[in-house]
Amino acid sequence: MLILGIESSCDETAASICKDGLILSNVVKSQEIHQEYGGVVPEIASREHESQIGTIIDKALKKASVSFRDIDAIAVTYGAGLMGALLVGLNYAKGLSIALNIPFIGVNHLEGHLYANFISYPEMEFPYLCLLVTGGHTQIWEVHLPGDYILHSNTVDDAAGEAFDKGARILGLDYPGGPAIEKIAVDGECNKYQFTIPVVKNDPFNFSFSGLKTALLYKYKMMNASEQKANIHNLAASYQETILISLFTQLIRVVNKTDIKRVSIVGGVAANKRFRTLAQSLELKNKLKIFFPPMEYCTDNAAMIATAGYEKLKKGLTSSLTLKANPSLALNDSVEL
Ligand code: KG4
Ligand code: ZN
Repeated sequence: MLILGIESSCDETAASICKDGLILSNVVKSQEIHQEYGGVVPEIASREHESQIGTIIDKALKKASVSFRDIDAIAVTYGAGLMGALLVGLNYAKGLSIALNIPFIGVNHLEGHLYANFISYPEMEFPYLCLLVTGGHTQIWEVHLPGDYILHSNTVDDAAGEAFDKGARILGLDYPGGPAIEKIAVDGECNKYQFTIPVVKNDPFNFSFSGLKTALLYKYKMMNASEQKANIHNLAASYQETILISLFTQLIRVVNKTDIKRVSIVGGVAANKRFRTLAQSLELKNKLKIFFPPMEYCTDNAAMIATAGYEKLKKGLTSSLTLKANPSLALNDSVEL
């Protein structure tokens, strides 16, 4: 069974071909134009998707050495994300579905991130905990089966990826902030500055990152220009460390509460190498088994969407042409196929 996956929920236009669960191609075009604005501009994102989507799908087909005629179904992200951006991918998929007379499957973007791990570790046993860390979400889910999710932790304000992006902006670094902070943090001391690990009053399992960003802003503003320049690596390293330790602190709380020792860490922030290094010592100390997807499946991509679509198609789940884009779709929203 050959699936074409399409992803256009934010600022990556992506297409992938998956054959019986195996990824044959995975093409991602990141919209670099947003760098000059320091964040994603929704209208520009939609226009960029519109101009790129045909080329990206052609590339994915070519890389997989297949043609439109070989495709059995199309999997496409229908939420969560930016409305205009989602509409480009969803409507393209609907058009192809009519033209090729094949089914299409609407995929929840967050569920796509969960499936990113499934590509490399299809044998991963249930139940497991999933730490979902993206630009818009920071959540810990207990996963019993695909579609059977219990939420344990959520952010009450910014997401971890957003904290990286906002922190980078304070430090005058590029967008997206995660890779920019990670890059300069390599040469910094992670214990040079003490940022308080955020806690949420009366809600010990949740995350909060907005105060941390403000603490960084104050610290940075109190320095003169030469101090800022001399300490930018240390600031980045200390800030990054605080975000990662906060993620692990809550994760361990949920591990202790549920007694589930298998953990999957997915989403854009999972691409962070320091995150992966710290996870190794956490694994040993707490007798955990932590799984990260390969780098290319952490940030937004269509391989994860094609894989999720394939699993749904195996169960006979396909979508109707009336499926609407849903910008605020949650992981445990009922399937709107
Ligand atoms: O999953 P993703 O590509 O898109 C969303 O669904 O939001 O995540 C994007 C987020 C951005 O906030 C970006 O700064 C962050 O993931 N990110 C990283 C790294 N690469 C991407 N954060 C920390 N370290 C990284 N290497
Ligand atoms: Zn994403």
